[in-house]
Amino acid sequence: MDYLDPMEQNLELLIGQTLVQSPDMPMEAHHDSRGGVLIEDGLIRAVGTADDLRRAHADVPVTDYGDALILPGFIDAHLHYPQTAMIASWGKRLIDWLNSYTFPEEMRFGDPDYAGEIAGRFFDISLAHGTTTVASYCTIHPESVTAFFDEALGRGLRAVAGKTCMDRNAPEGLRDTVQSAYDDSKRLLERYHGRERLSYAITPRFSPTSTREQLEALGALWAEHPDCPMQTHLSEQTDEIEWVRELFPEARDYLDTYEATGLLGARGLYGHAIHLEEREWDRLSELGAALVHCPTSNTFIGSGLFQMDRALASGVRVGLATDTGGGSNFSMLRTMGAAYEIGQLTGRVLHPSELLWLATVGSARALRLEDKIGRLAPGMEADLTILDLSSTPVIAQRAARASDIWEAVFPTIMMGDDRAIREVRIMGKPVARV
Ligand code: GUN
Ligand code: ZN
Repeated sequence: MDYLDPMEQNLELLIGQTLVQSPDMPMEAHHDSRGGVLIEDGLIRAVGTADDLRRAHADVPVTDYGDALILPGFIDAHLHYPQTAMIASWGKRLIDWLNSYTFPEEMRFGDPDYAGEIAGRFFDISLAHGTTTVASYCTIHPESVTAFFDEALGRGLRAVAGKTCMDRNAPEGLRDTVQSAYDDSKRLLERYHGRERLSYAITPRFSPTSTREQLEALGALWAEHPDCPMQTHLSEQTDEIEWVRELFPEARDYLDTYEATGLLGARGLYGHAIHLEEREWDRLSELGAALVHCPTSNTFIGSGLFQMDRALASGVRVGLATDTGGGSNFSMLRTMGAAYEIGQLTGRVLHPSELLWLATVGSARALRLEDKIGRLAPGMEADLTILDLSSTPVIAQRAARASDIWEAVFPTIMMGDDRAIREVRIMGKPVARV
């Protein structure tokens, strides 16, 4: 390659269809049927038409994806990697599902070898589905956090995770204490937060499994590290909300159990948030906190219908997530499809542009990483997913009738899976398929 201009040696030009979405308007997008993304040293340097970029960078190696769609990698803003091996467990609603399936599986993550095996498996699956960044809960065991972050580091991924904290209403062997939750979280935060592309999320599981004292200790930790995200669950099922009322009789509502303990803030990620009261909507909107919609989980565990219309109009940040393994699929395509279906049931027809925006920009904004990932724009990290819009005969025959990009991509949103993922790039480099 010594004929290359030395200044251009770290460049590569990707050509295909491109969609450039707006940083804050889900319905605004620019489509190029022959677009180009110029990558330099792992970052996006320029986005434009293939012809313009080719002319300006004549000596740069080109990868031409034909009419596949070059997108930012999908961002899954809420999941539990330790639940990878027990996804699709039958027949229970939230609390019984936790006790019957989830807690026994999470118990195993004190073993670093098992944690490492599942972390590796999880990232293989996730990347094969085109997801390049996740925000994951771990288990109460520090080993589960180390396994997750070490695996992410080895693969050069941007990733968010934290030790799940629980000091009550969980079985022996799956409870920490007020002090150990604080100490372990702090030690892990200091070890991993800001290292390479990792962020540490302070992670109280949800109010029913923490004493008020534990929530306060984690609130204090967040106050000491306000640039960290904080992730938890909020108002997922009506039985759960009733239980929170019994456990915290002094609280005005579910959100108040977090608000009163220092766990309500702009960097807070509140998973599910289905059955919110007016005061809760008001507080979350005022702060610009993030709600994470987990549509396959909400139907699979029977939780209810997220009010997307209200959320998008309210000033909260909205992310999209699989909630693996309460969610029933690792695919953010299936997750967008499920968000569409729940939109239909709540009278809000989500446009393909909004669905793709939620799975990329929306989740990046929820994680407050929108200046780094989630869009095709100069300066962003080149974590990319190349989507084959004709990945199965059924999808291909429908896409063949499309009259615009939205009609071409919607069959893949509704019927696509990992077969639609033509390639994934992390910091510009193709990820090997396993
Ligand atoms: N609420 C508390 N823990 C969990 C969990 O692991 N999954 C889901 N879906 N909801 C929860
Ligand atoms: Zn969850």
